[in-house]
Amino acid sequence: MPKLFESITIRKEIIKNRAWVSPMCTYSSNDGMANDWHLVHLGSRAMGGAGLVMMEATAVSPEGRISPWDMGLWKDKHIEPMKKITNFISECGSTPAIQLAHAGRKASTNRPWLGGGNVEKESGGWDPVGPSNIPYSNKSLIPKELKTNEIEKIIEDFVLASKRSIEAGFKVIELHFAHGYLVHEFLSPISNHREDEYGGNFENRILLATTIASSVREEIGNDIPLFARLSVTEYFPGEGWDLESSIKLSKNLKLLGIDLIDCSSGANYSEQEIKLKPGYQVNLSQQIKNQANILTGAVGLITEPEHADLILESEEADAIFMAREYLRNPYWALYAEKNKASWPLQYQRSIDI
Ligand SMILES: Cc1cc2nc3c(=O)[nH]c(=O)nc-3n(C[C@H](O)[C@H](O)[C@H](O)COP(=O)(O)O)c2cc1C
Repeated sequence: MPKLFESITIRKEIIKNRAWVSPMCTYSSNDGMANDWHLVHLGSRAMGGAGLVMMEATAVSPEGRISPWDMGLWKDKHIEPMKKITNFISECGSTPAIQLAHAGRKASTNRPWLGGGNVEKESGGWDPVGPSNIPYSNKSLIPKELKTNEIEKIIEDFVLASKRSIEAGFKVIELHFAHGYLVHEFLSPISNHREDEYGGNFENRILLATTIASSVREEIGNDIPLFARLSVTEYFPGEGWDLESSIKLSKNLKLLGIDLIDCSSGANYSEQEIKLKPGYQVNLSQQIKNQANILTGAVGLITEPEHADLILESEEADAIFMAREYLRNPYWALYAEKNKASWPLQYQRSIDI
């Protein structure tokens, strides 16, 4: 059997294969609520055979949303509609996962299909926050520098959202430490100019990430897998967040109970130049896997089953996350597996593959 379709057990969770749905914002919530859109969007990928289906970046507080239409878990009211989704994903034999996030200085922006850009306060936006008052780009809002007690509140927000995630039926939690959102902003010397215990040297800049990781692990106990998504490098030509920093951080996170590093890159430096090609981030996964000795997920322009399988066989990653290919084809995993027995029973009699 190709490794792509071998199960993987992480803590108490058996994930049926390694073809996973990467988190994707769909900007389709009101007041952070999940609805039928999310049920069908995520549910169809679970029906389509993905081993793990991850809910989009889900804000731990209203100010932590990228846009006013983001998914949220900052209040108990959010739990019930998510249960319908996690139940359905589980019924399909897939693992429901959720990505918990705070957008930091990149908050309060418009839906991409409305042209993106900032949402001003008069139109329902809010003041973004960050480690320092440095905007992402010259078009971005200037963030308010967080005070220590506000940072502590955000750590608590992650903990409470992780508790609600379990109540909502999620079996895996991922902490979003990537893509220039709040935690990445703290990690990087280009966005973090603080002079307190959360800024300055490497140990201080990783303090928010490590405290969130250890506090969430303490909250959820030992059975639930906990992942972290990192921008392994931010492509800054100078002293920015890079592979070496990510290896060091991953070693720390492993000791604190993180099970898998989801290896992405970029999005904290607005002038970044990325050479895109199939599997362009796989080498980052391979380096983290080998040098930090931790499970990894590879992501980024992986679209062919043979390529996905080769990455796993050559031990460059333990699982494959895919985003856009699953948008094109929610049934990617079933077609890739070529095994009629994996299709929903309701369909098996009627199709030839
Ligand atoms: C529509 C869309 C929404 C996304 N939203 C998120 C998100 O919520 N969280 C995240 O970490 N990455 C997000 N990403 C990035 C993807 O998870 C993935 O890392 C990236 O698209 C590269 O994988 P791909 O080449 O398979 O699409 C998004 C990507 C797309 C296309």
